[in-house]
Amino acid sequence: MSTATPPANQYRINTEPFYQASSNEVQLYEAAYQARLPVMLKGPTGCGKSRFVEHMAWKLGKPLITVACNEDMTASDLVGRYLLDANGTRWLDGPLTTAARIGAICYLDEIVEARQDTLVVIHPLTDHRRTLPLDKKGELIEAHPDFQLVISYNPGYQSLMKDLKQSTKQRFTAFQFDYPDAALEAGIVAREAAKAEARVKAVEAEWSGKLAKEQAAHAATRTGAPAAGPSPNGANGNGTAGVLTLAQYRSLPADQQGKFSSKQIDEMVQRELAARR
Ligand SMILES: Nc1ncnc2c1ncn2[C@@H]1O[C@H](COP(=O)(O)OP(=O)(O)OP(=O)(O)O)[C@@H](O)[C@H]1O
Ligand SMILES: [Mg+2]
Repeated sequence: MSTATPPANQYRINTEPFYQASSNEVQLYEAAYQARLPVMLKGPTGCGKSRFVEHMAWKLGKPLITVACNEDMTASDLVGRYLLDANGTRWLDGPLTTAARIGAICYLDEIVEARQDTLVVIHPLTDHRRTLPLDKKGELIEAHPDFQLVISYNPGYQSLMKDLKQSTKQRFTAFQFDYPDAALEAGIVAREAAKAEARVKAVEAEWSGKLAKEQAAHAATRTGAPAAGPSPNGANGNGTAGVLTLAQYRSLPADQQGKFSSKQIDEMVQRELAARR
């Protein structure tokens, strides 16, 4: 039984995510990170919380593992689980465990969406213990010295029924975000629009190149001349799009695996079992 941990480089951000600071939040975050304080980013949707954490992970040179929380999420989705394998069962770390092992910043986005019984697993990581018990595996992980937990929280957005428990909330250093003022916002929009335009141009250039190759290959087959090379965008034709096998799921990076619900994973296991029968 092996526990393969993905390399940290897989989660590093190599190009600077543009972030326009409104105040001294960058310096405050750096201080919080130096003390490895767990951080809560509070604020309305679209005010830049996710962009800020991406920017900070890049600036600090730390890997970032993001988990989009949802109400189907179980503690196993965060921590890990045993999976069926050709050779029996194999433990697969969840995104939180991976982050604690490799020393990443783990960003739990929209934390209120997760159920309270799921969230208690983060408690021992957020105090002096900095540990993560893997009950099912009988292992206690000591978080890597670089590990930090960050959550995002949008207080007014969800119903009052969905609020974070005080015992969870009080563990975090809160950063209050709001929409930038009009001048800053205009600057951000102009910059993002220029980026989007550059992206569209790059995609257009890529596709016109592909199209030219396709046309050349097509012309060559009509004249009997050898084609320029393999078609770059041939259909895969396997008809399985949208349904992952267990092996495909296992090959995904931990943060993408974190997006699957227990139900979806159960279905993959069921399909695998059915295929073996
Ligand atoms: N301060 C900022 N600097 C740069 N871009 C920003 C800033 N604030 C907002 N943006 C822009 O707004 C978009 C939305 O921001 P972001 O996804 O970080 O919001 P969010 O607070 O995480 O929202 P949600 O709560 O819905 O997840 C970004 O992709 C970016 O284009
Ligand atoms: Mg966000």
